[in-house]
Amino acid sequence: MNLLVIGNGGREHALALKLLKSKCVQKVYCAPGNSGMAQTGIFCVDIESTNFEALIAFAKDHAIAWTIVGPELPLFEGIVDAFEAEGLKIFGPSQSASRLEGSKSFAKHLMKKYHIPTAAFENYFELEEALDSLKNREYPIVIKADGPAAGKGVTIAGNEEEAKEALRDIFTQEKYGHQEKVVIEEYLEGPEFSFFSLVYKGQVLHLPTAQDHKRAYEGDKGPNTGGMGAYAPVPFVDEALKQEVIDQIVQKTLDAMVLEGCSYQGILYTGLMLTADGPKVIEFNCRFGDPETQILLPLLSDQLAESITQLLAGEKASLPLVEGQASFGVVLAAKGYPESPLKDLEIPKSFLEGSNEVSVLSYALREEEGKFYSEGGRIAMVVSMQEDLAQARQVVYDYLAIHPISHTFYRQDIAHQALESKEVNDD
Ligand code: AMP
Ligand code: GLY
Repeated sequence: MNLLVIGNGGREHALALKLLKSKCVQKVYCAPGNSGMAQTGIFCVDIESTNFEALIAFAKDHAIAWTIVGPELPLFEGIVDAFEAEGLKIFGPSQSASRLEGSKSFAKHLMKKYHIPTAAFENYFELEEALDSLKNREYPIVIKADGPAAGKGVTIAGNEEEAKEALRDIFTQEKYGHQEKVVIEEYLEGPEFSFFSLVYKGQVLHLPTAQDHKRAYEGDKGPNTGGMGAYAPVPFVDEALKQEVIDQIVQKTLDAMVLEGCSYQGILYTGLMLTADGPKVIEFNCRFGDPETQILLPLLSDQLAESITQLLAGEKASLPLVEGQASFGVVLAAKGYPESPLKDLEIPKSFLEGSNEVSVLSYALREEEGKFYSEGGRIAMVVSMQEDLAQARQVVYDYLAIHPISHTFYRQDIAHQALESKEVNDD
């Protein structure tokens, strides 16, 4: 069968490559894809991810068995509803169900109503009313733009002044586009991890746990980014904790969505914090994570396309895992990322090719006369799967060290804390 992946980043590259490994798959198309992907057997299609009419026509013309969506924007705009209205199979939530990511207040009200553990919160619709609420609070507090903000609309305000500035950024400056409201949240503490579930009409399949590193610089300093590196599985999440997340959070949320009349299908990304009171939801996303996908997919056996086909057909599905392995990856970014990344950096083909031990998943790259140039802030992710995390980490950092690329940077401390605490526990 032929499949279509929507999107153009490292996450979509990893997804397309994994689907291509399934025996039942002939061709994987990616719209719009990127030039790095085209080097690895993926067929890039020059159609933007929100041009539904052209995507639908393409899917019909190329006998696409089903489509899967990488980024959130097409989901918020109703790509699943549009494909399904044309009788095309697509794996993702409806526009209504994608509010779980698209509206923070929708997600928070749902969690409150159904007793799903998350930070306490309030909603404000007006600047003045929100500013008034800042007096006599204990800081820090967390201020979130309600609607889509390209992953940037969250501020941890350490005092009243910072909170005022964050509110003015949202309501007056419209820094994240027009926002109807804000969520002000209790500040939680603890290590974060991500958990992904594949959901379709009553069946739910879970992936191993992963940890992303969102800050730009070592020691979790600097601005929030799309993600600078990740690893899986997460040593501090044992089976009992994972089961608690499944029972008390994921399944309860899926049941709640059914009761609210917008049952959830597709990938559910639960962002969690392990607090002193147990795991709590930081956010839901309605898609795979980037960069978590790049490190999680190697831990699945090469039958992902079969699993999703079974789910979509309503047949009993499973998600076989590769046992006894750890996966680790680091993102190479252009200097200046995320605020003002340098562009048009030449990225050597020898680096993009990877090796027997690492794969290199590319973000937006452009090809000109056989040479590759960066177009965005994140350039590529180097990933390795090995018998243990320390080994996988070493292989990736060795690869990066022997391929220095000017005007780029990467974090040297991905999974450092996880390995340190493991050493303490092993002693
Ligand atoms: P979000 O976009 O909702 O995932 O938030 C981005 C980041 O802000 C998260 O990964 C957390 O590190 C942090 N964050 C969000 N909500 C809270 C909270 N209630 N308490 C502490 N940190 C938070
Ligand atoms: N890993 C963060 C995200 O995909 O939103």
